[in-house]
Amino acid sequence: MKNQGLIIPEHLAIIMDGNGRWAKKRLLPRKVGHRYGAEKLRQVVRWSADYGIKYLSVYAFSAENWARSADEVNALMNLIVEFFGKYEDELREEGVRLRFTGELSDLPEKSLQVVKQAELDSKDRDRIMLNIALSYGGRQEIVRASRLFGQDLLENQIAIDELTLENFRNYLFTPDIPDPDLLIRPGGEVRISNFLLWQLSYTELYFSDVLWPDYSEDDLYQALVEYSKRERRYGKVNK
Ligand code: IPE
Ligand code: IPE
Ligand code: MG
Repeated sequence: MKNQGLIIPEHLAIIMDGNGRWAKKRLLPRKVGHRYGAEKLRQVVRWSADYGIKYLSVYAFSAENWARSADEVNALMNLIVEFFGKYEDELREEGVRLRFTGELSDLPEKSLQVVKQAELDSKDRDRIMLNIALSYGGRQEIVRASRLFGQDLLENQIAIDELTLENFRNYLFTPDIPDPDLLIRPGGEVRISNFLLWQLSYTELYFSDVLWPDYSEDDLYQALVEYSKRERRYGKVNK
């Protein structure tokens, strides 16, 4: 492993972007790009685990992605089912614990079943946690958290002045996962696209033009080299 001299983020987040353009360049349908994108995820999980990254959060399908064509949405939903069918053994061997974040109740029955099962089957693994955002929107997550807090308030489970920064976190989808240390967005766009808005407050951001299906082990290495050079100050002045 080439960890030497690198600072390894405990939690890496990735916006897996560029599948459609990758396919278009090859005159292939967008869904073929997603298939290659899923293969890439499988590789990146392995590389990340080898680096000692403990949490890997990936944006697989946004709340806004439902507005794409039915054909593309269906292909993505089927891909979820296929992915876990195909890589169940490999994920077990790699010690990958699965978690999902997002409005999972929006998923078709079959996909929902598969993700719930994957979560359950992997709950005792601890080499790396793969947190997959599905039907996820950062704003939606914050509104949902506010609604859940309101409910607890109405039911006298909590007092209004108990809503602190730390307590608010408990109403988010994955309060037990620390905030990402590094966010990588391949695919050339320089925006967050509604990913983990709350959690990214002090995350280091890294953008790259490489399309996700082309993302290489060296691309990940380069991002980690850059991350290792960053000075994280959290608003303070370092000595
Ligand atoms: C990312 O690739 C995967 C999803 C959003 C599901 P895109 O499908 O956004 O690919 P581009 O950005 O159109 O190339
Ligand atoms: C963000 O990519 C969502 C995922 C990668 C799942 P998009 O392709 O949907 O984002 P925009 O439309 O470029 O902002
Ligand atoms: Mg895109």
